[in-house]
Order: sequence, then structure tokens, then C-alpha cells
Amino acid sequence: MKKDFIDIQDFSAEELKTLIELTGIVKKASKERALPDLLHKRSVAMIFEEASTRTRTSFEVAMTLLGGHGLYMRPGDIHLGKRETVGDTSRVLSSMCDGIVIRALHYKDIFDMAKYSSVPVINAMADDKNHPAQVLCDAFTMFEKIGRIRGINLAFVGDSSEEFGLIGRDLMLISSKLGINFYLASPKQHQVEEEFLKRVYKNAALSGSKIVITEEPKEAVAQADFIYTDVWTWYGFEDKAEERLKAFMPKYQVNSEFMKKAPPHCKYMHCLPAMRGEEVTDEVIDSNQSIVFDQAENRLYTEEALLITFVGRALRPRKADKESNYYKEISRITQKFF
Ligand code: CP
Repeated sequence: MKKDFIDIQDFSAEELKTLIELTGIVKKASKERALPDLLHKRSVAMIFEEASTRTRTSFEVAMTLLGGHGLYMRPGDIHLGKRETVGDTSRVLSSMCDGIVIRALHYKDIFDMAKYSSVPVINAMADDKNHPAQVLCDAFTMFEKIGRIRGINLAFVGDSSEEFGLIGRDLMLISSKLGINFYLASPKQHQVEEEFLKRVYKNAALSGSKIVITEEPKEAVAQADFIYTDVWTWYGFEDKAEERLKAFMPKYQVNSEFMKKAPPHCKYMHCLPAMRGEEVTDEVIDSNQSIVFDQAENRLYTEEALLITFVGRALRPRKADKESNYYKEISRITQKFF
């Protein structure tokens, strides 16, 4: 049976760790230009209802490096949701493609795409809910920098509300699954709601994560190994920009003075794109403490791991690829997943 990647909450800590382990292996193989063509002659439909730099590029390049093809469908390119139902689009795409990657305005459309699809569906961000491929990449990036996952101290400074805080919320979710200690600093009116926290606390009780919710950014970053921010203002929200900046500035801005509140080894993270001068200053994002471009690059290896695991699952590799140096290692890890 096909398996989709649409919500972090659907996966156990072991499964998420397996994906992180696989990302490390495929990164090594990719750097050596030795990644086997595990998706040889396979096609993945890549639907984007919104603009994207990192997600679009990483999935498309990953498909090429795996010997297949990613069909980029830009916003407005296909009939989805306007002249054709999500279900009909899903049935048609899954009759011709081996997988569907989708960035949508509404999580429900990703969920419905998966419901009607006979091939695996990968969530490339639901604008109203989550970004699991991003936060999986972030967990891998932290693991790569520090050499362990359990007990990492991650501080997210910014919005965690249901309306606008999808990165902070999804980071909280994956942290609570993986035993990462999560410190959240949001202004009161932009805080995560109790209902969401119930799920997080349930995960944390199993993984041992410490979850700290505060309005005080300095308190959140005092022990941080990593400080993470996302944008406060964005296109489509121009009418709310002034009000939002008032809620966050200057208290929540990560600048050089702010970084001094964290331990000296602390690294700065951002999913990008960033609004330089708002949630973060140039001096921080361009500093030696910033790992934002490592994070962005790691999107490629994360997407390779996701495509191999979910789309590649149903496929039998060619003899030549089975004989490649990395095949055994990749196959050992993916077998742990299913
Ligand atoms: N972080 C991220 O998803 O970037 P894009 O919007 O450029 O894909």
C-alpha cells in the first residue's frame, strides 16, 4: 500500500530518525556524485499553488539526481480547484506519474490529493497548516551540526499562532516527537493555542522533550543551541504588516545584541526567505553563527530521502543501481522504515 508524507504527527520518532539517517547517507552519496538512479525514468508531478525557491528547486533537482523527472506545475498552470476537483486532478496525475509533490494554500487539498491518489503524495507546504519537509530538514541540520538529536535545545522566537505560525508549530511538533527541548517565545496575542499544545505534550511525554512557552525571548534563548525565526510579514498580508511589526518589534528581533543572550556556541536558523531588518538583521543572518544556507542546501538531501522512501518504495531498482556503492546502505535504512 502507498504511504504519504503529509504530517509529522503521522510518524513515529523511529521513522523520523530513519529519514534523518537516510538524509545523511544520500547527502554523502550526492556530494560524491554517486547517488544511484533509484527513480530511473520515473516522474513526479510537482504542483505549486504558491511561489517557491528552495522547495521547488530541491524536489526538481532531487528527481534529476535520482534519474527521474519532476514536472513543475506553477501557480495557475493546471485546472486544480478551479475547473477541476482535487479528486479528479489526483486520479489523472496518479495514472501518469509515480508520485505527487504538492504545495497548497489549504491543507485540506493536500489531504484530498492523497485520499484520491494511487501514488504517494508529499506535502511541500500547506500554507494554512504545516511544512513537514522543511522541519525534517531542520532536524537533520541540527543533528549534523551537533551530532545528536535528543536533548538539543531549540528556541523559536516569533509567531506560533494558528493563523501565521506554521513553521514554529511544526518545529514544536517534530521536536516533541524527537526528544528535542523546545523553547517558544511568542507575544501573548500570537501564541500557540491549548488544543495544539495537548498533542505536543502527549508526544513530549513519550520522547522526554522539555517544552517551555514564554513571552520573554531572553528566557527562551538562555540555553539555546539553536535560535530559529520565521517572517512576521509576508505578501498577501500587507494590510496587517504595520500591526504585526508593532507586536514583534523590537523585542523579538534577532540582532547581534540579542544573540549575546544565548550561549556563544548557539547557531542561528531560518527556513528562508527572510525579511532582513525585521525578524533578523543582516549582521546575524550573514554572521558565522548563521547556518541558514546549510539548512537551505540540506533541503535537497531531505527531498532525496523523501522521494527514495515514499516514491521509491514501490519500485524495483535496476541491476546497475543495485551494484552501486551506496545502494546497500540506502536499502538497509529504507527497509527499517516500512
Ligand atoms: N523554506 C521554503 O519552503 O522556501 P520556499 O518557499 O522558497 O520553497
